[in-house]
Amino acid sequence: MASTEDKAASKESPSSWKDSIYNPRTGELLGRTASSWALILLFYLVFYCFLAGMFTLTMWVMLLTLDDSVPRYRDRIPSPGLAIRPNSLDISFNRSDPQKYSQYVQNLESFLQRYNDTEQEENTDCSPGDYTLREEGEGMSQKACRFRRALLSFCSGLSDTNFGYHEGKPCVLLKMNRIIGLKPGGDPYINCTVKKENPIQMHYFPKEGRFDKMYFPYYGKKAHENYVEPLVAVKLLFTKEDYNKELAVECKVNGSNLLNNDDRDKFLGRITFRIKVVE
Ligand SMILES: *[C@@H]1O[C@H](CO)[C@@H](O)[C@H](O)[C@H]1NC(C)=O
Ligand SMILES: *[C@@H]1O[C@H](CO)[C@@H](O)[C@H](O)[C@H]1NC(C)=O
Ligand SMILES: *[C@@H]1O[C@H](CO)[C@@H](O)[C@H](O)[C@H]1NC(C)=O
Ligand SMILES: *[C@@H]1O[C@H](CO)[C@@H](O)[C@H](O)[C@H]1NC(C)=O
Repeated sequence: MASTEDKAASKESPSSWKDSIYNPRTGELLGRTASSWALILLFYLVFYCFLAGMFTLTMWVMLLTLDDSVPRYRDRIPSPGLAIRPNSLDISFNRSDPQKYSQYVQNLESFLQRYNDTEQEENTDCSPGDYTLREEGEGMSQKACRFRRALLSFCSGLSDTNFGYHEGKPCVLLKMNRIIGLKPGGDPYINCTVKKENPIQMHYFPKEGRFDKMYFPYYGKKAHENYVEPLVAVKLLFTKEDYNKELAVECKVNGSNLLNNDDRDKFLGRITFRIKVVE
């Protein structure tokens, strides 16, 4: 329709190609009248509003079905990493100089605040040896199991407020990273070794360096509000001949389904730190 008009117009005037942009006689802009343009714009407006509406609706329905305490799709539960306190992989101090070890002692003390009995009054005494599973009908929240600071004995900071640093027999605390839904198999325990000819004596607290199963599984930040990770303390019983040497300590968690020998990730289920005591 527009092309026949254009041909007719081009016979009259050579500059009439301008008419194809705006034709003053018919009032057409780019070959369409104003009402035709209005209809097209209206159509696209309604069409895109409809698409946006569809998108919002499906998104909303999907979000309704999500539980914000648990990731919905996970192919497998990952293995936890291991971390130590004091928060340093290079511990070095003079046992006769409190200024040199006070940073470690303060770090341990502030980390253990959450484990005070007063802080855990709300938590329950769970039954050792079994997973603490969320009960049906309990709703969203899960009671946290109590971990008594006193279980760490000489490394609790209660009887010995210096955690052994002043006597050159320092304590190091170990914990596994929180992983939602993880149920460690077997009876997971910590085993530390020092790379050295004659072995170094160590004491583990709680007994045998075990993580009790009752602290698992973890249900997530929102659902498991007062959760405290179980801890294992290792007290390195250095003697005079171990002083002035930088010793590498490797600790591993051993449980049937916990990885601790991944070549690519040296913190997966294990950790290596250096420690040096001078006198
Ligand atoms: C450790 O501290 C004591 C007391 O301050 C000091 O006499 C000693 O020389 C220090 N040792 C080293 C190796 O710095
Ligand atoms: C936790 O216990 C320690 C040792 O009994 C005490 O010094 C500290 O003030 C307590 N902290 C809290 C927050 O209750
Ligand atoms: C701890 O690890 C060492 C070396 O890997 C091993 O010889 C020892 O038997 C282990 N101890 C326990 C209690 O698993
Ligand atoms: C770790 O535990 C598994 C079973 O739980 C056991 O077969 C294995 O010998 C243990 N490894 C070490 C080094 O103790």
